[in-house]
Amino acid sequence: MNYIEEIKRLKKEKNAVILAHCYQNVEIDDVADYVGDSLYLSQMAAKTNADIIIFAGVYFMAQTAKILNPTKKVILPNLTAGCAMADMINLQQLREFKSKYPDIPTVCYINSTAEVKSECDICCTSSNAIKIVESLKAEKVLFLPDKNLGRWVEKQLGNVEVITYDGYCPIHNKLEPSAIKETKLKHPNALVLAHPECTEEFSKLADYVGSTTGIMNFVKNSTEKQFIIATEKGVLDRLKRDYPNKDFYDINDKPSICQSMKLNTILDIYNALKNETPEIKVEEKIAQKALKCIEKMLEVSK
Ligand code: 13P
Ligand code: SF4
Repeated sequence: MNYIEEIKRLKKEKNAVILAHCYQNVEIDDVADYVGDSLYLSQMAAKTNADIIIFAGVYFMAQTAKILNPTKKVILPNLTAGCAMADMINLQQLREFKSKYPDIPTVCYINSTAEVKSECDICCTSSNAIKIVESLKAEKVLFLPDKNLGRWVEKQLGNVEVITYDGYCPIHNKLEPSAIKETKLKHPNALVLAHPECTEEFSKLADYVGSTTGIMNFVKNSTEKQFIIATEKGVLDRLKRDYPNKDFYDINDKPSICQSMKLNTILDIYNALKNETPEIKVEEKIAQKALKCIEKMLEVSK
């Protein structure tokens, strides 16, 4: 069977939409309606008129789409696709963190569970984190779970104290500043483009720091020809496909792979559409509270 053609047919028949994160296996783009970063995909999820949303991404992304669309079917093709960073904080840990710093607004990265979002003031993604923290007009904010993104926002703003939770993305956090230097020795003319989930020491050495879409837009608008890409391999794969006349390098020639992001396959997507499972469900009370946190973010990001 030609799964790609069959997915396209089923999408029409069932009025379904496929949202794909740019860390997904690159062949998924052949069936996706929208491909992008977490912010773009949550904006598309908020707007869609489809009856079924197939989310080719990880659990928290599909959960966010479900919270925004409580009456629609939201399906994560491989239910085991989680996010190690989102799993670093649960509700109890959030409450303990907040109790140490009372009366300070709490910003949660979209890479968090619905329960965690339900007790935070506002959500953010890597592409709007600066704007979101700024919008609070506070001297101090609590930021979770990603300490690296929080620290990066603090540095960019300069006038807000960002108190971070001790979470991180294992894939980005392990990138060593020394590896940038070594890669630069091999490719001295290449610009380093990094995701803000990298450590402060690492980001300091980058020429540009931004979300996955931010990195792809930087390449699109740049006249430069060589780039070192410090984020998950999906971005590098898409850049290589879209700009065959430019050169892209991994840090130290080792691809950074988020195994979770790679779990969804074309076959999973076909099965998900055909069987309309596995569906994401969020307890109503939690979903209503988490929705406020997400909607505030979408309002600021308009
Ligand atoms: P983006 O906000 O760039 O989509 O990143 C999401 C993510 O999980 C990065 O590891
Ligand atoms: Fe989570 Fe890191 Fe994978 Fe992004 S790359 S989904 S933050 S584990």
